[in-house]
Amino acid sequence: MRSEPIAGQVRIGLIGAGLIGQVHSMMLRKIADCTDGAARITAVADTVPAAAESLAARWPGARAVSSDLEIINDPEIDAVWICTPTAMHRAATIAAARAGKHVFCEKPLAMNAGDAHTMQRALEAAGVQSQVGLVLRFSPVYTVIRVMARDPKAGRLIAITMRDDQDFPIRGAHPSAWRNDPALTAGGTLVEHSVHDFDLLRWMFGEPTRIYCRTRSLRGAPGIEDYAATHFEFAQGHQAQHSSIWHRMLHRPSNRRLEVFCENLFVACDSDSIGPIIVQRGEGEREEIIPEQDVMARFVEILLRERPYLAPMKDWFAVGYALEDAAFIAGLRGACAIDPGFGEGVKAQRLVEVAYDSARRRAPVDLYT
Ligand SMILES: NC(=O)c1ccc[n+]([C@@H]2O[C@H](COP(=O)([O-])OP(=O)(O)OC[C@H]3O[C@@H](n4cnc5c(N)ncnc54)[C@H](O)[C@@H]3O)[C@@H](O)[C@H]2O)c1
Repeated sequence: MRSEPIAGQVRIGLIGAGLIGQVHSMMLRKIADCTDGAARITAVADTVPAAAESLAARWPGARAVSSDLEIINDPEIDAVWICTPTAMHRAATIAAARAGKHVFCEKPLAMNAGDAHTMQRALEAAGVQSQVGLVLRFSPVYTVIRVMARDPKAGRLIAITMRDDQDFPIRGAHPSAWRNDPALTAGGTLVEHSVHDFDLLRWMFGEPTRIYCRTRSLRGAPGIEDYAATHFEFAQGHQAQHSSIWHRMLHRPSNRRLEVFCENLFVACDSDSIGPIIVQRGEGEREEIIPEQDVMARFVEILLRERPYLAPMKDWFAVGYALEDAAFIAGLRGACAIDPGFGEGVKAQRLVEVAYDSARRRAPVDLYT
């Protein structure tokens, strides 16, 4: 049975005050400002006391603690944001569910899809709400391209090409080593970063029916690939090629390129958030560019049609993390269904696991959905 919507302010305990924990704290602050205080962080847990203290200090009255259980068992907390390294997600999620807390959990949900499914079952049994941090579903460019590719005038989908790359994330903007520790990470670039893309491919282009993947590790610890090439077949006949790369160029920003070919439409984009979109249409003589501001205008129109409850976030429409957190807060307050729910994260992780299975077998793997 589902719990009742939260009538007033959502009181949040944040677990893990590292890179993404700090991002969520900033986003929750913007939400509080845009909504007259719909949400507030009341406690921060981190095994590094200074990290918990410095984040808690940004929220008047918030406590800094060193154990996530202090947050999970606090009756004054409604929801937890789980922002620890991947290996810690499972225990915290299950304990939070049993304590009746709503859960926002970062991706990948767990060390493997079986654990992620166990977490989902615990959340459902407890009747709490839960969302996964698949932030690309709030990306302006991908939201616009999704609608363009679904327009009947585009014709049938033929091929999708996508590349996801970033500096091996154990330095620079990612100043912690756990992504190269097999005990703490679910794998390498495919599960720790491109799980976003696998979810995006499902969300934009439908369920894949067959996956073939090859991986390579130039610098990672055993089991931590830094390159993966994946081929997807979809039920409707279209296909996708995906490259996932952890390189060694510290100053190259984390980046994605997406190209979509339909019978009457070509679309390409070199940003995963905001940026121009290159388009060529059926009878058009040459490529056109939809400039960034027009992309944003289209995105806002789609967003407000599909998620009108996000209207108060109008100054932050370009920031996916702000929108995903605002969507979860709105869901907890009963304004909408949770989207993307925890189950979407489980499905995305299953796809990655099928890709790893294919790489191990050096053979394509069929999916029966
Ligand atoms: N959605 C996204 O775009 C995105 C981006 C970055 C990271 N992530 C995900 O977020 C999670 C955290 O990544 P990060 O980059 O913030 O890592 P990080 O190393 O920067 O931060 C993790 C924090 O968790 C703390 N911690 C470790 N064990 C803990 C425990 N048992 N209890 C409380 N705190 C503990 C660490 O001390 C550290 O401060 C990972 O699952 C990662 O894949 C998602």
